[in-house]
Amino acid sequence: MSHRDLPKIELHLHLEGAAPPDFIRGLAREKNVDLSRIFTPDGSYAYRDFTHFLSVYEAATSVLTSPEDYARLTRAVLEESAAHGVIYCETFLSPDFCGGGDLGAWREYLAAIETAAAEMEAEAGITLRGIVTPIRHYGPERAKPNAICAAETAGAFIRGFGIGGDEMAGKLKDFAWSFDCAREAGLHITAHAGEWGGAASVWDAVRDLRVERIGHGVQAIEDPALVDHLAETGIVLECCPGSNVVLGVFPSWEAHPIERLRAAGVKVTVSTDDPPFFHTTMTQEYDHLAETFGWDEAVFAEITQTALAAAFCDEDTRAAIAKRLET
Ligand code: ADE
Ligand code: ZN
Repeated sequence: MSHRDLPKIELHLHLEGAAPPDFIRGLAREKNVDLSRIFTPDGSYAYRDFTHFLSVYEAATSVLTSPEDYARLTRAVLEESAAHGVIYCETFLSPDFCGGGDLGAWREYLAAIETAAAEMEAEAGITLRGIVTPIRHYGPERAKPNAICAAETAGAFIRGFGIGGDEMAGKLKDFAWSFDCAREAGLHITAHAGEWGGAASVWDAVRDLRVERIGHGVQAIEDPALVDHLAETGIVLECCPGSNVVLGVFPSWEAHPIERLRAAGVKVTVSTDDPPFFHTTMTQEYDHLAETFGWDEAVFAEITQTALAAAFCDEDTRAAIAKRLET
């Protein structure tokens, strides 16, 4: 069986970061916005490094200005994910991008995204759930309305709360109010950490935010005591190896620690992060993992079961996905 056909679960995907460049170019044309600076001559996203990637990401997002734009984006992204065998996906959504942090506007964007997701579930057999994520470099004060949006809309679709953006900006504990607000509303907790900030940043997420999962977390490999702690507590890493290699977190696939973490008993999962930005797909992630580390169908099945157990969905959804994986 080709890796494309294997049923997959993806827990770490930024909705705007999954926007195909053609989709963003089309919206820019419709709205008369000149975004030529963010594209290479061959039409992909152009950025120099992580900081520049974040600003190109925000420029691309600037043409997503209505609930209908997000509905179209959701359909385009899920169609592509389903074509790579993804049957269950969790996506990061930011009220800062969807309505500027205003609760009423957020509800409208969310309704459009949920409707599009339900259509794609019926058409393409892919189930989507959302994780609200403030943007770290916008600071703790702007995170608070995000947390209120998350808490007010927590339910069958919005399942978690996290944080993305520039990991080197500010301290995670300054976001504690927002994370407490989300946790009290029953939301699950994850955070981007240990992509850029080293093992210390992963410790911060573990101690200050009491995360259940960590976005990336791969720099934990620098600290054996942390690796042991992750293995003992069962905190799950949302690994995105292709993203890390393209952004230069690790110099090559061979140098990526996902297999060393797995061998040490850490629960690892596989995702694409922002697939067109990093020229990847879930199929390509699987191909690289098979080529580099010899991962076979048994390992991919283990990874999928880890992801299923760590998914933030409700138990009925988890059971339905489990059933689909059996067939
Ligand atoms: N937002 C989109 N992609 C991201 C990444 N890889 N790290 C942090 N924030 C992000
Ligand atoms: Zn990410």
